[in-house]
Amino acid sequence: MKYYLTTPIYYVNAAPHIGHAYTTIVADLIKRFKTMQGYRAVLTTGSDEHGVNVERAAARAGKAPAEFVAVIAREFEQQWRTLGLGIDRFMRTSDPRHHRKVAELFEACRRNGYVYKGEYRGQYCIHDNLYVSEAKPGDPCPECGRPTETVTEENYFFRLSAFEDRLLELYERQPDFILPETRRNEVISFVRQGLSDLSITRTNIKWGIPVPGEERHVFYVWFDALTTYVSAVDGEDLWPADLHLIGKEIVRFHAVYWPAFLMAAGWPLPKRIFAHGWLLFQEDKMSKSKGNIVRATPIQQVMGIDALRYFLLREIVFGQDGNFSYDALVGRYNADLANGLGNLTSRTLSMIQQYRGGRIPAPAGGVRPEIAQAAENTIRAAIAHFENFEFSRALEAIWSLLSSIDRFIVEEAPWKLARSSEPGAAERLDSALYTAAEALRVAAILLWPVIPASAERIWDQLGMEGPLEQVRLGELAWGQLPAGQAVKTPGALFPRIEPPQAIERMRELEAQETARQAALFAPKPSTAAAPATERISIEEFARIDMRVGEVRFAERVKGSDKLLHLKVDIGEPQPRTIVAGIAEAYAPESLIGRKVVIVANLQPRKLRGIESNGMIVAATPEGGKPVLVGFLEDVPAGARLS
Ligand code: ME8
Ligand code: MG
Repeated sequence: MKYYLTTPIYYVNAAPHIGHAYTTIVADLIKRFKTMQGYRAVLTTGSDEHGVNVERAAARAGKAPAEFVAVIAREFEQQWRTLGLGIDRFMRTSDPRHHRKVAELFEACRRNGYVYKGEYRGQYCIHDNLYVSEAKPGDPCPECGRPTETVTEENYFFRLSAFEDRLLELYERQPDFILPETRRNEVISFVRQGLSDLSITRTNIKWGIPVPGEERHVFYVWFDALTTYVSAVDGEDLWPADLHLIGKEIVRFHAVYWPAFLMAAGWPLPKRIFAHGWLLFQEDKMSKSKGNIVRATPIQQVMGIDALRYFLLREIVFGQDGNFSYDALVGRYNADLANGLGNLTSRTLSMIQQYRGGRIPAPAGGVRPEIAQAAENTIRAAIAHFENFEFSRALEAIWSLLSSIDRFIVEEAPWKLARSSEPGAAERLDSALYTAAEALRVAAILLWPVIPASAERIWDQLGMEGPLEQVRLGELAWGQLPAGQAVKTPGALFPRIEPPQAIERMRELEAQETARQAALFAPKPSTAAAPATERISIEEFARIDMRVGEVRFAERVKGSDKLLHLKVDIGEPQPRTIVAGIAEAYAPESLIGRKVVIVANLQPRKLRGIESNGMIVAATPEGGKPVLVGFLEDVPAGARLS
């Protein structure tokens, strides 16, 4: 029995952040859960390397696209390894086996009459690689709000319009094809509004998979990218996938286009798509284009990967959006892991050491039936919640068992029983210790998918043999802990963390990681000036409102080496708040009273929680620090530059 699941293949125009880690961690969890159910579970991910987005990011870095994507793809692959995620195949869209599969899909669609040549004229968003058929020139992209560009080109079209009924029928016949329900409803109403044919090749882009026999055409990135789900496991008898895990912003590509391509080709359809919500940071979707990102490795270094895994799965209701904050992360860790699971484990094991010479006693006094019952219920509930993608509820159920064991220990007070000479006290002590240890065994099994490293340590400390991976959930029941088994000395599972220090440390590591990655993207140092860019009209230039400003206030932005928080008088009633990346070049106090140039009509942008309302103008020599623009003669604040 196989279970094949996938994450999206991520764009390699920037390095991974915890948004990508979120999907990939959940995928790893499901893989572990399915393994424990006896499936041969296979997980694939990869890198989406084509398209304008990536081409432009490479150009900015002064690298050839192929060289650029290789560096970033390695960052992703390395990241998943560092985080200990069970990736079985990492498919790069630059892989020749993948190219062949894309061509095969195209040929199959064409052979079956679903592809024709036509002319596309319309709006296109380069950031989302989206042709926005309903948009007029200048309209914003419906996905990201950035202005669309007008393009005219000869394209191959896919007859998406032919699939309306078949898709609706699919959603009807298989109500769990798209989960959760809200996403399913969105997709259904999208398809009901009618589908237009889709252009699936491009002539205005060079960085893509060439269309066989058509020099000038490359495949549309989504036609290319979705096919990795098949090419990643080519020849392995794993397709169709049992599950595509994705973020909600790409549900249309997966739930509408992808099944239509497959139906057209006559290839089997994936069984299920789960589109989860967004990780928000500082009240906004965490995203590389906005720059409000947090990386996984600094958290792993300070708190351990299980802390992040637990937090993401417990704090956020899977399917919905949820906030990331360092405070909540550390808070959850201390409350649930250090004081909760960690403390129960160390107390139980030390009492077994202290009162029973390190061997798990047989429950001579029997086990309280209500506890055995609660444990059985927890096993059933947790498994059902995992099965239904209700991870936070599974964890709630497990923690509720753990707290009932905590209460039980307080009631039984083993430390009193150990000193008591009353008849039956020794048997009660045996039973209390057995009960606590057995609850930990059950918890370790149920928690392995979520916090594998910690679950393995509990398992090992209880003296259990064999890898948890080989335990089968179908056989799990209360009372299977062998008595007489020797436990190991408890080592601190989750040492308590001091919030301010830990957060400070994670921010430092984050800044180091940002600098390391910035170096990967840095343009090659060169003494030649940057090439002149495309010319613009005087009207276009006049749209930029540049003004003289006087710095009134300046301080470093907490947790950042690069940013200064400035207040600049530009002749308005209130000074503007501006966040500028000049901290490495200028001490804050040296700027007070200085005249600078500000771009006053940029859209506000949030940086480290501060809304920046303008940009300070500076020259940045290749490989050097920014140098602020200034004036030799005095000019009043507020004067416009033209
Ligand atoms: O869309 N919250 O790649 P991408 C939750 N290449 N999940 C997030 C997230 C956030 N803030 N940010 C990213 C692409 N993700 C295409 C996919 S698949 C054939 C092609 C996760 O780099 C989430 O899974 O923009 C989301 O769907 C994915 O990263 C988008 O990654
Ligand atoms: Mg995206």
